[in-house]
Parts: sequence; structure tokens; C-alpha cells
Amino acid sequence: MKTGLETLILPAGEAASEAAARTLAAGGLVAFPTETVYGLGADAANATAIAHLYAAKGRPAFNPLIAHVADLTAARRIGRFDARALRLAEAFWPGPLTLVVPKTDACPVADLATAGLDTVAIRIPAHPVAEAILHAFGGAVVAPSANISGHVSPTLAAHVESDLSGRIDLIVDGGPVEVGVESTILGCFEAPMLLRPGGLSRERIEAVLGAPLSRPPADVESDDSQPLAPGMLASHYAPRATVRLDAREVASDEALLAFGPAHLPGLEAAAAVMNLSPTADLDEAAANLFGYLRLLDAKTPRAIAVMPIPEEGLGEAINDRLRRAAVAR
Ligand code: TXA
Ligand code: MG
Repeated sequence: MKTGLETLILPAGEAASEAAARTLAAGGLVAFPTETVYGLGADAANATAIAHLYAAKGRPAFNPLIAHVADLTAARRIGRFDARALRLAEAFWPGPLTLVVPKTDACPVADLATAGLDTVAIRIPAHPVAEAILHAFGGAVVAPSANISGHVSPTLAAHVESDLSGRIDLIVDGGPVEVGVESTILGCFEAPMLLRPGGLSRERIEAVLGAPLSRPPADVESDDSQPLAPGMLASHYAPRATVRLDAREVASDEALLAFGPAHLPGLEAAAAVMNLSPTADLDEAAANLFGYLRLLDAKTPRAIAVMPIPEEGLGEAINDRLRRAAVAR
């Protein structure tokens, strides 16, 4: 790992985008906001930069990265899009959807970033700062979430700073992100497969496809040695505290992560309480999820008790992250 780096923090703007592009071109690591979460970017064609990126995150190298590009032309230099993949790209890009497609023969993305797979994950982010950086840099940028591997994903520049300060070159601060959970990952296989629920709901994708999406079989997903979306390790997105799901009551040494109207037994005595969305709005809850997990975790409760959250819209992604956070470590 590159240690003892001086991490520069710049407010988003033209100067920051230019600095980001220069840093990426020089093989450096740059954290920047996207609409989903902050990403940690490296030049997708530079294997050494990507090796530094894995090291800075403490990320297992078998876990491949998403290539971020500015437009569909750039995406098609990297991946092969059939008619169905094109339809999805046109419907949802720029936006919180990642498509896994076969690599092109001349795919410029380094093998290290695709973990030796013959497919590549691609997305066009919908965030003015990410867009400006991609345009200024001109090439594809691989970017996992800008957190230490296994930690909760960052939704503020301050989260990035607390995880990665001294390990990366630059943080571009564009304020809080909008969506709050990572992109939805769709495998464009013979039958399209929802590899990771995320910021674009299953319902909206199914409406465009005109068919239901399958999920990877449970045994494939839970086998950490050979996962289908290799990053979906069971214990991921983990705060330090234990996470207890489907809470119908809360103990005095627990923090409560509430959703909707909260009137559970023990509420008054709970160590801390934060409500993802008092009005039970799932989009608002997604935007607050990772930040609130960090805030509750900082109070070092014995456990974080989480109220039930409906499995619809962005609730599927929220519950997915919470179940991973709840896996015993
Ligand atoms: O919203 C997001 O997607 C954020 C922002 C920064 O764009 N990025 C993000 O990246 O969440 P990361 O690295 O934390 O998650 C990428 C996921 C991993 O689960 C990885 O295994 C999967 O994408 N992935 C990458 N390439 C793949 C491939 N060829 N086939 C299947 N899964 C792939
Ligand atoms: Mg991540």
C-alpha cells in the first residue's frame, strides 16, 4: 500500500476536476461523488494504479471493479451490447445501473480490474462532478465505493476522509450524494440477472424488459469463494456493532434504526435513535442508510436494532445491505 500519502481535499469545481484528471492520468487515486455513493477512482487501463487501489481499500483482488465512462460510445469500446443491453442503457444511463456485459476484443480495462473475467461491469454515473471528471480525464475510470473494504459505503466526503485519508491522493468534495445505496448490478446474460439490488429498483428494470428478473441462486450467492457477483460477500457493509434485524422492541444498550412511525417498546430508553424516514419513504431511507449506520455505530451501542423495512422499490437494496451487515463476523 502507498502509505503516508498527503491526501488533498478540494471542493468540487473546474479546478478540482482538472486536478482529478491529472492525478488519474499520473496513476493516482481520486475519490469523487457519484449519485449513488462516493467512488475511489483509478485509470481503468493502468494496472499499477489499480493494484494501488486494491491495496488502499484492503480489497481482495478477486473482486472486480465497475468501469465508469462518460457516454455510450465509450461504454461500447469496453463492452459488447446486444439489443437488450442497449435498451437498458438508453433507458437508464446516466443513472444508478451497472450492466455486466461481455468484454470487447480491444477492451482497454486492465485484467486486474475485471479479475480475469471475460465480462466487464460498466456504468455512466448521473452526477455533474463525476461527469466533469470523466470528461476531463477522457478514459474509463474504475471506481469501487471509496471505503475500506467491508466498511459501510461513503455518502459524504467526510466518510471517505475518515476511511482513506493518507492512503489516496485526492478527495473531491461534492457534498452529500443523492441516492445513498450503490448502483443496481444487472448481468446481461441469456436470462438477465439481478446480481445486486441497488439504486434503481427492480420494478423499473422489469418494466423496460417486460419480464421478471431472476436472482442468482442462494447457494451461489452465499458461497464467498465463488460468488456470481464476486463482490457480494456475505459479511459486507458492516458497522462495528452487531446488527439485529426486524426489531419489534429495543433494549437500553441498543441503538435503534427506525423506519416510518416508530412506537416500539423500549424506545425512550434506547441508547440512540435515528429514523431513516419518519414518513416511510424508501428513497429517503436509502439516502440516509449508510450515514445513519455510521452515526449510530459511533455511539458504540451493543447492537443496532433495525425496524422492518418493506421489500419493494429501493427497499430491496436497503434490506440487502442490512442483511449483509447483520451477518455474524
Ligand atoms: O454505485 C456504485 O456502483 C458504486 C459507485 C462508486 O459507482 N460502486 C460500487 O463498486 O459499488 P463496488 O466495487 O463497491 O461494487 C462493484 C460490484 C462488486 O460486487 C463486484 O463483484 C461486481 O460489481 N462486479 C464487477 N465486475 C463484475 C463482473 N464482471 N461480473 C459480476 N460482477 C461484477
Ligand atoms: Mg463497495
